Amino acid sequence: EKGGYAHFMLKEIHEGPRTVQDTLRGRLAKEERIAFPGLSLTPQDLQRFERIAIVGCGTAYHAGAVGKRWLEQWLRRPVEISVASEFRYSDPIVGPDTLVILISQSGETADTLAAMREAKARGATTLAIVNVIGSTLAREADAVILTQAGPEIGVASTKAYLAQLVVLALLGLFLAQLESPGGLPPHLQTLVSALPEMPQLLERCLQQEEAIKALARKLVSSKSFFYLGRGLDYATALEAALKLKEISYLHAEAYPAGEMKHGPLALIEPGVAVIGISTQSLTREKMESNLKEVKARQGTVVVVEPEGVVSDGADERIVLPSAPDYLMPILAIAPLQLLAYYIARERGCDIDQPRNLAKSVTVE
Ligand code: F6R
Repeated sequence: EKGGYAHFMLKEIHEGPRTVQDTLRGRLAKEERIAFPGLSLTPQDLQRFERIAIVGCGTAYHAGAVGKRWLEQWLRRPVEISVASEFRYSDPIVGPDTLVILISQSGETADTLAAMREAKARGATTLAIVNVIGSTLAREADAVILTQAGPEIGVASTKAYLAQLVVLALLGLFLAQLESPGGLPPHLQTLVSALPEMPQLLERCLQQEEAIKALARKLVSSKSFFYLGRGLDYATALEAALKLKEISYLHAEAYPAGEMKHGPLALIEPGVAVIGISTQSLTREKMESNLKEVKARQGTVVVVEPEGVVSDGADERIVLPSAPDYLMPILAIAPLQLLAYYIARERGCDIDQPRNLAKSVTVE
């Protein structure tokens, strides 16, 4: 059932391009308009909301961290993001004017279910982005959008994260469409046109597998890993660091790159690996100088950047195909999932069943 792959995780990483394609299918009409057939919220319902809150756990929360930035920028409306276990007890400011988006692969995560019930009790409308049809979250939420990732067996979530990103991008552009009946502004229409290209670009990311395997061998003896990024790249950093932690048992943390100098830079010394994610032109120069600060303390620097860009001073590079900046999170995570996978494999870890973890967490 692993289709010739050594682990479900590797198989599922390679299913990424197909997952993106399946998640786009039926939602991107020919005339380049986004539609969610079967969505039980009307355009009038969706335009009524003044606030949006996104809630999830782990990887689903990280997808939400990308979604928050997309929706906020595309809709110019406030979007909050919370970890589900924190949301519930935070006396959240949500009510009838709020759309609460709950993201979950399994649809059975106790924290996320509790957050949904709390949001409903406060009169908010709940929209679930979920992978498992018929799951509790899918049944109880006011509206559902299915990710089309297919069954995910590996405990570490990979293709489901991609599907969550694609749904969030579609949803953000769909809501933006409702707000501009005369047509989307050109910078957003460009994204709609670029979405169908993503599966093929993602395939190109995965073709670097041999290079990433070699990089994993170089990095495996590092004592600690920092994943740095700004804006959307910080959200990618969070997810990339989680992947490494959970399957390789190595210490990894994500930091907004600009925060390093406010403390954590003290931890950088030889033997510490720093993965700088730099896909956003707005912050490229700032990222470059943040990575130079790391290099000066003799950390090993790996930069993840689009082709045609060469940041100064990195020891290693992971090159991504170019795409609109907004969509880079969909591409940047794939090589970092592979990197985590091959580091864990070098260490002989039980990749599909990491210690202490379960696929679906049904206690709060
Ligand atoms: C990480 C991972 C977990 C889940 C989290 C939420 O790879 O798998 O962090 O993402 O437990 O699970 P779902 O999405 O099923 O609610």
